[in-house]
Amino acid sequence: MCGIVGYLGKRPVTDVLVNGLSNLQYRGYDSAGVAVVNENCISIVKKEGKLENLESALESTPVSGCVGIAHTRWATHGKPSDINSHPHYNADKTIAVVHNGIIENYKELKAFLAEKGYEFYSDTDTEVIPKLIDYLYEDNIETAVMKATDMLKGSYALGVVSSKDNNKLVGVRKQSPLIVGIGENENFIASDIPAILDYTTDVYLLDDNEFVIITDEGIKIVDRNNNVIEKAIYKVDWKKENVSKGNYEHYMLKEIHEQPEVTKNTLDSVIDQNTGFFRKITFDKEMLSNINRIYLVGCGTAYHAGLSGKMAIETLARIPVETDVASEFRYRNPIVDSNTLVIVISQSGETADTLEAVRKWKGKAAAVIGITNVIGSSVSRECDKVFYTRAGAEISVASTKAYVAQLTLLYLVAIEMAYTKGILTEEESKEYISKLYQLPKSIETILDSEDRIAALAEELKDEQSLIFLGRDYDYPVALEGALKVKEITYINCTGYAAGELKHGPIALVEKGTKIIAVCGSMRIEEKTHSNLREVMTRGAEIYCVSSTEHKEFTNIVISETIDLFTPILTVVPLQLLSYYIAKHKGLNVDMPRNLAKSVTVE
Ligand code: AGP
Ligand code: GLU
Repeated sequence: MCGIVGYLGKRPVTDVLVNGLSNLQYRGYDSAGVAVVNENCISIVKKEGKLENLESALESTPVSGCVGIAHTRWATHGKPSDINSHPHYNADKTIAVVHNGIIENYKELKAFLAEKGYEFYSDTDTEVIPKLIDYLYEDNIETAVMKATDMLKGSYALGVVSSKDNNKLVGVRKQSPLIVGIGENENFIASDIPAILDYTTDVYLLDDNEFVIITDEGIKIVDRNNNVIEKAIYKVDWKKENVSKGNYEHYMLKEIHEQPEVTKNTLDSVIDQNTGFFRKITFDKEMLSNINRIYLVGCGTAYHAGLSGKMAIETLARIPVETDVASEFRYRNPIVDSNTLVIVISQSGETADTLEAVRKWKGKAAAVIGITNVIGSSVSRECDKVFYTRAGAEISVASTKAYVAQLTLLYLVAIEMAYTKGILTEEESKEYISKLYQLPKSIETILDSEDRIAALAEELKDEQSLIFLGRDYDYPVALEGALKVKEITYINCTGYAAGELKHGPIALVEKGTKIIAVCGSMRIEEKTHSNLREVMTRGAEIYCVSSTEHKEFTNIVISETIDLFTPILTVVPLQLLSYYIAKHKGLNVDMPRNLAKSVTVE
């Protein structure tokens, strides 16, 4: 949610800021804006809509200086509009602020400041921040920011500049991400690494309630009491190519095509090539033998990966697993004790609800384990133990390769747990692992049928609704397929357990209804087929992703693997289907409406 960039250095500041925003647009694209300090004044240019609008505005109104902040917004308070766009500022435009997060007590603060004579122009929660800093300002901007944060409730990453305290860039974070990019005679703040990758790969990862003050002299990180905090430099191992589209029209298509490599990289990260077995066993035998319940928690696609993870862990390691969406898990009253393992799954490692699950249960559960794609993310830093998916930067809002990497990792976790508990021998574990190693090739074979899937997407593109069905291992994939298609094509999709259809939803079926069936799992194939015949009898047309051809349906065939691992394969045609439906409809595939990639507000 929302991308922040800040820069202090000798390069043309708006170029650096706009370039940074262009690599953060996946975080929100309701509006974009910059504030640049030049001697005694701040120039602010901000526009509703995509970054192009800001770029055209900057062409007609160029601004220059050597320190500035920028923002790409995912609106939470106040509709997307020029006036609600960030940066926000005080009455005489001597203080400007960009904000990622939600100020929960903004109404109280607004009333407090209004009483002191402050006027407000926007509907945002953010606008109270520059006004509060203005109210608290004495002789330097960082102290005023510190005092202001004492009064803020909620979540925030802030970038602040002031023409009253020239050549200074101040940042702070609390429950929203912020990193510091370290350059030579230039430094940056940003919500995420892609924003600064063109300039540096050395960063400091700020923790909650840490303040960064960047001046010509360099970077100072302090706590609320002004104690200097020495932080280790973190070296980013992403390359610039990771965050470019390469020869692909969209990030999503590139990321779908990266899945064979991503699966292999994730396997290679824990498996020794010579032995075909785990490089090291990470679970403690005694600890695991005491675990009687696991919660797998995530949001959206990560939650769907959790549903498949549950099946894998229960099948192989025989530990009961409950799955939950993080936004529910954080508020209900789950039974978590020292015999419970909480595993959170998050591509970004910054999803607010998922992070809350970590914070709530750390210290109470036997362990809170994170599965994340981003080294240095909040999930990676706050969990007791972390497994990394090796998907590389995922830019498209619709998650594809991260999901496949999450499944790969969850299967490995299930195998390792089963081995540690003595359920699988080393040889048996190796057999499962070697089956996982066959999947990259099988994904490539599916990608070879891209043209055919694109043609099927043409047939489906004008549908008003689609129903996705699956049973057993196929059920989570049906849910994920429905999510993928709805989020980027805006077609109303529902995913159901195939056997559940006749308990209500079958009433939706009429002549011509299109059903997408997932039938990768052979052990219950006949059962799913019976459900499909029930809807065909009522006029439905079936598009079936399965391991074998069936004359009655339009088929998309995947290579065979063991039932348990089929989700890694069956999801691929559904991703391509969603991509091509969106493309045929002329929609913005990588930046679907109303969405943002990193959901850092609850
Ligand atoms: C996936 O296509 C979505 N855009 C969304 O559901 C996403 O998976 C969810 O927001 C969780 O994100 P995370 O993995 O970064 O925590
Ligand atoms: N709450 C702020 C707003 O709506 C910031 C949202 C964001 O993180 O983009 O403007």
